[in-house]
Amino acid sequence: MKKEGLPVTGGVTGKPIGKLLLCFETKPFLATLITFSLVLLVWNLQPYYDQLLSLSISSSCHCHVTPLLNSTITNTITTNTTTDISAINTVRKPRIFPTYKDPNKREFKPYGNAAALFVQMGAYRGGPTSFSVIGLASKPIHVYSQPWYKCEWVPNPTTINGSTHQAQPTRTKATKILPDWGYGRVYTVVVVNCTFPTNPNADNSGGKLLLYAYYSLSSRNFEKFTALTESPGSYNDTVYTSPPKYDYLYCGSSLYGNLSASRIREWLAYHSWFFGLNSHFVFHDAGGVSEDVRKVLEPWVKLGRVTVQDIREQENYDGYYYNQFLVVNDCLHRYRFAAKWTFYFDVDEYIYVPQGNSLKNVMEEFDGFTQFTIEQNPMSSSLCLNDSSQDYSRQWGFEKLVFRDWRTRIRRDRKYAIQARNALATGVHMSENIVGKALHRTDKKIRYYHYHNSIQVPGEPCRVFLPPSAKKKITIHEKLPYVYDDNMKNLADTIKRSERETLGSYHQLLS
Ligand SMILES: *[C@@H]1O[C@H](CO)[C@@H](O)[C@H](O)[C@H]1NC(C)=O
Ligand SMILES: *[C@@H]1O[C@H](CO)[C@@H](O)[C@H](O)[C@H]1NC(C)=O
Ligand SMILES: *[C@@H]1O[C@H](CO)[C@@H](O)[C@H](O)[C@H]1NC(C)=O
Ligand SMILES: *[C@@H]1O[C@H](CO)[C@@H](O)[C@H](O)[C@H]1NC(C)=O
Ligand SMILES: *[C@@H]1O[C@H](CO)[C@@H](O)[C@H](O)[C@H]1NC(C)=O
Ligand SMILES: *[C@@H]1O[C@H](CO)[C@@H](O)[C@H](O)[C@H]1NC(C)=O
Ligand SMILES: *[C@@H]1O[C@H](CO)[C@@H](O)[C@H](O)[C@H]1NC(C)=O
Repeated sequence: MKKEGLPVTGGVTGKPIGKLLLCFETKPFLATLITFSLVLLVWNLQPYYDQLLSLSISSSCHCHVTPLLNSTITNTITTNTTTDISAINTVRKPRIFPTYKDPNKREFKPYGNAAALFVQMGAYRGGPTSFSVIGLASKPIHVYSQPWYKCEWVPNPTTINGSTHQAQPTRTKATKILPDWGYGRVYTVVVVNCTFPTNPNADNSGGKLLLYAYYSLSSRNFEKFTALTESPGSYNDTVYTSPPKYDYLYCGSSLYGNLSASRIREWLAYHSWFFGLNSHFVFHDAGGVSEDVRKVLEPWVKLGRVTVQDIREQENYDGYYYNQFLVVNDCLHRYRFAAKWTFYFDVDEYIYVPQGNSLKNVMEEFDGFTQFTIEQNPMSSSLCLNDSSQDYSRQWGFEKLVFRDWRTRIRRDRKYAIQARNALATGVHMSENIVGKALHRTDKKIRYYHYHNSIQVPGEPCRVFLPPSAKKKITIHEKLPYVYDDNMKNLADTIKRSERETLGSYHQLLS
């Protein structure tokens, strides 16, 4: 959904802790961001960037400093749900401070929580020898220090002839990828890759993957936790070598706000048809799945076509835009071997292959690439045709929103798909961490229709009606040129039929 530019007031920033970082989150950040879009390479030169960032902080931080330890902060991270793993202490003990006799001995009394060193969302096996741990890390620690990670595999004890035997743990230094560096807020996303020389669970007796997270280059201060457990017999080699279960997987980013249930229904009907039966959709509910939205997802969930992950707890961790970078990376690694191609785009966007071609053909053509990006057809979310023969109240969004912004040569956001097996981490508009080639000249083969913000509009989207003559010429509306484009409209009957046929008896749940 909306993700262009840096949000000034995100929905997840209600925490006083956020103020602490505001001083280096705005101006210098925009500046460095611009530098960044020019020199994409720099993304990969993290130490250089670190330096750049700390320089701009020291030179241009004029904002007033919010007291670091205001006692009201104590109440900001309250959660009574169970967290997978979190270094945050949610249990509060009464604090006892020592009292000193010497009046010149000054006290420092901390209250409340700062950002955790690491907040784990997921950990997955990435093949016989490697694992990934997906999480958030304190951004200040990444800016001012050099945290690093180490992995340890602790095998389960085995019983041989009645006596218990504990094999030696194996350790390996981990590599970290920071896929949203430059966007993070209090937290930044970290993908930790643990690659062992050989399969640490080769005998399939099971074991645990421990992650050591260090605060700085010094190895004195660290946190250690179990990131993943493999039960005896659960390791299955063939998963990593056999063909994937699905042709296509959709990894949706965080759903938030007041989403229109009708638009979600239409999106799912369309893409179920577009990707075909051998596809799967993963949605991430950051508060956007209301009762009404749940109702339109339900038939698809029952059919096994859709998975909804409840990520509402992300609200407690102030990352970029509902933690969407965290979510797309978790989805990448969680489903890395489940599908040939993984698509990343939003629920107000419709992937489209020009008539006369098929998705299958296009994907076969792109097979030699690990990644391709997709250009958009920006559509108006309010312009409809003044045509008394149409009953718009009964039509679907993409059936009646038929005016496309005619401007070309404007740099616009892209969306993308990757062969996840060859990706190490990913982003919102593309992945910068792939093995293999990327293809960007795809506009003649595949595009997406973007009905910007239409998903948040309750009720009827048609708000402005253009005269029938607008079908044949360029119409200027609010200083922008629009042309008639009925490619999507022409598919509406096919999509509605496909929805009825696919859902079968579940179809009645929709009305
Ligand atoms: C903490 O912050 C609140 C609101 O920002 C303010 O009203 C209060 O005086 C502060 N308390 C202390 C101890 O600084
Ligand atoms: C704790 O969870 C219960 C049940 O989910 C809820 O009713 C309650 O408001 C929660 N309390 C807090 C402090 O979040
Ligand atoms: C970890 O990194 C190695 C080397 O780049 C790569 O081959 C492997 O696929 C990665 N594993 C995961 C889970 O990303
Ligand atoms: C288990 O005991 C049997 C009989 O005592 C012996 O032949 C075998 O080598 C033992 N196995 C191991 C792994 O020690
Ligand atoms: C191992 O994975 C393959 C492919 O995913 C699957 O067909 C097979 O049933 C699995 N084997 C076991 C023992 O789970
Ligand atoms: C639509 O067209 C009719 C007939 O041409 C006209 O009377 C009406 O005002 C138009 N409606 C809008 C909303 O432009
Ligand atoms: C969400 O939208 C529905 C109608 O689509 C409306 O009834 C409801 O009040 C809205 N809720 C919020 C919180 O805006």
